[in-house]
Amino acid sequence: MRILAIETSCDETALALVEASFSPTPTFKVLGASLYSQTELHAPYGGLFPMMAKREHNKNLLPLYSALVAKTGGATISLSAETITAIKHAADKEPDLVATIETAKDAFPSLDFDCIAVTVGPGLEPCLWTGINFARALSVISGKPIVGANHMEGHIYSVLAGTTAESASPIEFPALALLISGGHTELVHMEGYGQYKIVGKTRDDAVGEAFDKVARILGLPYPGGPKLSALASDARMRNIASPFPVPRPMLHSKDLDFSFSGLKTAVLYGTQALGALSDEQKAGIARETEDAIVDVLRTKTETALENFPARTLIVGGGVIANTPIRTALASLAESRGVAFRMPTRELSTDNAVMIALAGAFGFQAGTVADPTVLKAQGNLSL
Ligand code: KG4
Ligand code: ZN
Repeated sequence: MRILAIETSCDETALALVEASFSPTPTFKVLGASLYSQTELHAPYGGLFPMMAKREHNKNLLPLYSALVAKTGGATISLSAETITAIKHAADKEPDLVATIETAKDAFPSLDFDCIAVTVGPGLEPCLWTGINFARALSVISGKPIVGANHMEGHIYSVLAGTTAESASPIEFPALALLISGGHTELVHMEGYGQYKIVGKTRDDAVGEAFDKVARILGLPYPGGPKLSALASDARMRNIASPFPVPRPMLHSKDLDFSFSGLKTAVLYGTQALGALSDEQKAGIARETEDAIVDVLRTKTETALENFPARTLIVGGGVIANTPIRTALASLAESRGVAFRMPTRELSTDNAVMIALAGAFGFQAGTVADPTVLKAQGNLSL
């Protein structure tokens, strides 16, 4: 089956076309993908504004779809007046998006696919709605069904997309998944595909949020995570230490929960006490913050593996783009003799390939949604 996927949950607008097969095991081939990241756009404001992100999704969905169609050898069709009326009805809350579709009605990009997968949550609801309404419009045009996809399920299945266009090997179960993104920090035990038990999660900030907030305190531009990590790596190379220690919250608590807000507060108070920071001090604090996060993630994941035996350790979510975290978790898996699966760096941060994979599992299980009842669920859990 061929899945067309749409992802607009945060500040990446992404589309992908993936060929999926489930027998004997789930295999996937990425036929094409197109993605536009709004980070540069939000950077001058030091954060993300949902309504601005939504406007950008509305503007970029059709050009990205056209680019995907061009890449994958699709054609163009013309849309009849009845089709345009039906689209207006199906996506009536998104007049800007409908207007861009209407403008392209004489040469509308057309692709062959069996279903449309769209992220319905978790994420920013105004942004999720844009993707859902674009999916509704494409469903009207193509007559194909829509499957609502869970963004976090996408991050888990991102490990199945392989390192080339071809699929990776199947996951050996039971598995333990550590999900670390801008909005989530979760440990999930899986007995099989689609079977999730959340065994630990953050009580306050997510890991990505901790990276971004500390980066902001240090005056680094948005999104701070990768920039903080680059500074930390520089400090390691030059052997610069932090002027104060950063706590490892809940490192030895018996449960599998996390807490990252104390880490940010410690950095806030520590820096306030120092006054104006030198570049060396900033680098040292970045290093200590990253080390603290790595320690917490490694220790908690190890405890989870002790409590919930697994044959595979999966890690997913934007923060796994971080090199020290990738290295620490890979070595943990090796030391415990479990298989280690992580996405390519490209598929670590938000993308539509992972949504196609989550959608393929949903389509295979028959969870096709009625487009009119499909809705954005900002707090959707696994
Ligand atoms: O999964 P993702 O792309 O979006 C969400 O679903 O949240 O994750 C984005 C998060 C941001 O907090 C970003 O700062 C963080 O991932 N991130 C990193 C790195 N790359 C992305 N954090 C630390 N080091 C990185 N290299
Ligand atoms: Zn994400």
